[in-house]
Amino acid sequence: MKDILLHTQGITKYFHDPNTFQVLKEIDLEVKKGEFLSLVGKSGSGKSTLLYLLSTMDMDFEGKLQINGEELTGKSPDYLARFRNEHIGFVFQFHFLLPEFTALENVMIPAMKLGKYPESKIKNKAMEKLDLLGIADQATKVSSKLSGGQQQRVAIARALINEPLILMGDEPTGNLDSVNSRIVFDIFKGLTRDLGQTIIAVTHDEDFASKTDRIIEMKDGKVTN
Ligand SMILES: Nc1ncnc2c1ncn2[C@@H]1O[C@H](COP(=O)(O)OP(=O)(O)O)[C@@H](O)[C@H]1O
Ligand SMILES: [Mg+2]
Repeated sequence: MKDILLHTQGITKYFHDPNTFQVLKEIDLEVKKGEFLSLVGKSGSGKSTLLYLLSTMDMDFEGKLQINGEELTGKSPDYLARFRNEHIGFVFQFHFLLPEFTALENVMIPAMKLGKYPESKIKNKAMEKLDLLGIADQATKVSSKLSGGQQQRVAIARALINEPLILMGDEPTGNLDSVNSRIVFDIFKGLTRDLGQTIIAVTHDEDFASKTDRIIEMKDGKVTN
């Protein structure tokens, strides 16, 4: 079906250290274009492991992963690195900004790496993203001088710079107070509503999850709904 953006079949994964243990069990998932999906479940249920694998950061699994109709299992690490930089935006619980670089420079990095546009255009695009996130006025500050909420918004702008097919977040509000969590949620909601952005967010914030389009629950490495 053409409106299915991400599709998995029978995803199964084991960790072998210290003991062999099955972390993901036969996961079949379909995510539609424009869908805002939350992934919930107890700590240790396999949410982060699944998300890393959906983002192509971890390809050590059995089963199939298709994004935008393209089968990604079996592709080379170089191919996947480029695919990921171009098509997947990832936001972590911690922002991982380069502290000595300005907000604008941090946002520009993935686009400079992709090399699709000249630097002047990338700069304009990065400013647009900072503006979208309501922090254009912070563009020239070094990121270490920004507040936690502002830093997370810079990280989101950075994740959006290459206009990814899917924005993924692993506890994107996990390190924020309730006011900033709300701001980040509203940004995500606005991105799906206004731009049709597809989003998959791991969260244990029930309020956050309840306001997304669909909740997927995990238990002991299985999707339970
Ligand atoms: N690199 C690893 N090696 C071995 N076990 C791991 C590794 N990463 C995670 N695990 C284990 O896999 C399970 C699922 O972890 P994770 O996906 O991080 O869960 P969640 O994000 O739902 O809290 C946990 O039992 C965790 O201890
Ligand atoms: Mg986790």
